[in-house]
Amino acid sequence: MIVGIPKELKVAERRVAITPAGVQALVELGHTVLIEAGAGLGSGLQDKSYVQAGAEIRPSSEVWNNSEMILKVKEPITPELDLMHEGQIVFTFLHLATDKNLTQKLMEKRVIGIAYETIQTDKGFLPLLAPMSAIAGRLSIQMGAYCLEAKSGGMGTLLSGVPGVQPAHVVILGGGIVGVNACYIAAGIGAQVSVLDINPQRLAYIDKVTSSKIITLMSNQTNIEEEVMGADLVIGAVLIPGARAPKLISKELVRRMKPGAAIVDVAVDQGGCCETTRPTTHENPTYVEEDIVHYCVTNMPGAVPRTSTFALTNATLPYVLEVANKGYERAIQENPEIARGMNVVKGSISHKVVAESLGLSYTPIERR
Ligand SMILES: NC(=O)c1ccc[n+]([C@@H]2O[C@H](COP(=O)([O-])OP(=O)(O)OC[C@H]3O[C@@H](n4cnc5c(N)ncnc54)[C@H](O)[C@@H]3O)[C@@H](O)[C@H]2O)c1
Repeated sequence: MIVGIPKELKVAERRVAITPAGVQALVELGHTVLIEAGAGLGSGLQDKSYVQAGAEIRPSSEVWNNSEMILKVKEPITPELDLMHEGQIVFTFLHLATDKNLTQKLMEKRVIGIAYETIQTDKGFLPLLAPMSAIAGRLSIQMGAYCLEAKSGGMGTLLSGVPGVQPAHVVILGGGIVGVNACYIAAGIGAQVSVLDINPQRLAYIDKVTSSKIITLMSNQTNIEEEVMGADLVIGAVLIPGARAPKLISKELVRRMKPGAAIVDVAVDQGGCCETTRPTTHENPTYVEEDIVHYCVTNMPGAVPRTSTFALTNATLPYVLEVANKGYERAIQENPEIARGMNVVKGSISHKVVAESLGLSYTPIERR
């Protein structure tokens, strides 16, 4: 198969959809890889490293025109939509459930849109979203440390403390992938950490893997209020799949927090779990409201494109190889995880939840 990787066009997006190791794996299996000049530069990957791995460097139009499968990171934007052709596989983050316009454009183009975020195992795990959550969770503590600095408007507390001075109290709401990764870093740095979740199994897991070094608490109104009011740093890491994040921290509770404390609301991409949350960008990541520093960047992994590129492509490559080796029709017959990734197929929506969210009709793959 001819596999093409264009440079990402979205503003401030520095990730790329393949590493040289991924190119080498495809080429060794007999595939051709066309990559746009400079596509990897934002992640510190030079064209020559792709050439050494066996890729051909081409201008954008040639990558799009000649490729049977396009690998991307972010959902396509207008100039990219114009370059697509019928029957082309576009394998990327799509987030169609909230974007009717993009869905209809992809249907008009009659491409095969496979979404990273809906590839799902039989147990409900989302293997291509998980590495981004791990990054956001780890980064949340780094960003929280920055928010607590005096120059950011914070109370001027060092997360680790020093001998003779208390460390910061970090409260993590949600003990899923973001939450557990935030736990590791916060505990590793020497902060005093509590994590709250509604799932007792998650709490038991965190207790076990951290050898009880972290306080685990059931997430309920009483515990949330008590913990948030005593926190120096709160991390919002809750998720109810497919729904908006629950507003666990009211504006009134924010007012009762310690002045100069910080909230890093990682769940902002699902609306955030705090009433005072509003989305921010890497260019302008924080604001102060009610004396609390808020960090609410919706695409946190974009802050560390190099790590994010490697983490994302480690996870995508097995699926990319399978689609390239078998073609998408056989791949979806043989691998239900890939079948769940199919969002649009030659003019129809093949993902039930996406179709329902948009109020459009759903066509199961087998009836297409
Ligand atoms: N801002 C970003 O760049 C970025 C990046 C990655 C993920 N995210 C977001 O971070 C959030 C968490 O993602 P994840 O991968 O860790 O999800 P996850 O499903 O692994 O974990 C979510 C956890 O929240 C818990 N939860 C649900 N309701 C709760 C409640 N009322 N109180 C306490 N816990 C509750 C669940 O039991 C689960 O353990 C999601 O909203 C995700 O979209 C944002």
